[in-house]
Parts: sequence; C-alpha cells; structure tokens
Amino acid sequence: MNAANSVTSSALAPQTSSTRSIADALAHHSTHNLKRYYDHWARHYDADVEAEAYCGPAMVVDLLDAVAQQANVGHDSHVLDACCGTGLVGRTLHERGYRQISGCDLSAPMIDQAHASQAYQHLYSQIDLTQPLPRELLQRFDAVVCCGAFIPGHLPASALRGLLAMTRPGGVVVLSIREAYYDTAGFEPLLQALWREQGLSVLQTRMSARYLQNARAHYLALHVA
Ligand SMILES: C[S@@+](CC[C@H](N)C(=O)[O-])C[C@H]1O[C@@H](n2cnc3c(N)ncnc32)[C@H](O)[C@@H]1O
Repeated sequence: MNAANSVTSSALAPQTSSTRSIADALAHHSTHNLKRYYDHWARHYDADVEAEAYCGPAMVVDLLDAVAQQANVGHDSHVLDACCGTGLVGRTLHERGYRQISGCDLSAPMIDQAHASQAYQHLYSQIDLTQPLPRELLQRFDAVVCCGAFIPGHLPASALRGLLAMTRPGGVVVLSIREAYYDTAGFEPLLQALWREQGLSVLQTRMSARYLQNARAHYLALHVA
C-alpha cells in the first residue's frame, strides 16, 4: 500500500451519519467550496450515502465486469478509480477480485478514508480532474472508472477527456452520469466529437438505471481507441 500525499489517523475515526447529503453537495459552484464540503464530510460520507440507498459503485463495477472480456480487462489489470472518495468503488472492485487498484480524488480527507479501506495499491490526493493531470497518470491504466462525480456542481462533461487521457490505448472507461445532468451538460455532442477525434466508441450502456433512492443515472462503458 502506497498512499501519495497525506494520510492521517482521521481515517480510523468512527463513522456515524451527519446532516450532509449528495443533494446538498450539488449546490456548490466552485471547486474550492466543493473540496471543503467533502473534506468535512469524509468521516460520515459512507453512512450518509447508505441512508440515501446509493448503489452507483455496484452498478459501475457490474458494467465493468460485463465488458471486461470484450475490453481485455482482467483481475490483474490496472484499474484507476477516479474521484474515488472514501473508496466505495475500490472496495467493490476488490470484493470482485480486482487486485491492481489505484484511486485519485480532490479531497485529502476522502483519500484518507479510501486508504483505510486497504483496497487500493496507490492513492493520489488533491488531483483535480478539471485541471491538467500529472504526467505519471497519463495513458497508464487498463480501465478507468468514475462514479458519482458527473453530477451538477462537480465535474463538467469535458472532464471525460481527462479520464480518456489516463487510459491506455485499447482500454476502457466506465462512468456514471446523473440522468438529468446528462441531458443538460452536453454529453451527447462531446461523445460525438470524441468519436470523430479519437475513435472513442460506446461498448455498453445502462440508461436510466438505479443510482440513489431519488435519482437515476446513465452508466456508460467506453472503448478508447
Ligand atoms: C459523490 S462523491 C463520489 C465518491 C465515490 N466515487 C463514490 O461513488 O462514493 C464525489 C467525489 O468527487 C470528488 N471530486 C469532486 N470534484 C472533483 C474534481 N474536480 N477533481 C477530482 N475529484 C473531484 C469529491 O472530492 C468526492 O470525493
């Protein structure tokens, strides 16, 4: 286990529910405020989203499993969990047998929680997917998954370019996009542009599928040419 940047003992603090929620997180309009929100939410996040019946992580890993053979991804493949948060996706990947899991996120306290899960080999803190990415992460991963971050106030559709840039040629990107956000944030024209520019293709989708008790999401598996 090699966690980059800060990993503190706060990860071991007991988790109880708080008054924060994904619905409240949508209201942030700057990366600075959003980071602060998650920094303070980290210790209570898992309990709070469980209370919202959040099933995005299981849905994303289900879709990765469904396309794994087609995308030549196996349990020894290098998988990056982008916007890993506290590690719900990493833990699910680990339970399903994946063993080379890395994670990155904007919030160091969220990364601390992911570190405590022991699901990840490498963790990268304070990575902002709306900014240029560190060279060491480029074209490095066989699969990049991103769950729960393409939602209002979080990642713009253009951040998909960063996910693709971290994927090796021939690899796969699996992501969730909150349903209402998909329609308003310009995903359709972006996917068409990426198909023309880079030969990006859609392997499989789960449209308008389960996500939270009060919201649905689209799940896409994309093949990087
Ligand atoms: C709703 S949580 C989802 C966490 C985890 N993937 C899950 O499904 O439980 C959104 C995560 O995105 C991260 N995030 C938000 N904006 C980001 C950005 N610009 N770059 C990287 N991470 C970001 C937050 O820190 C937070 O951990």
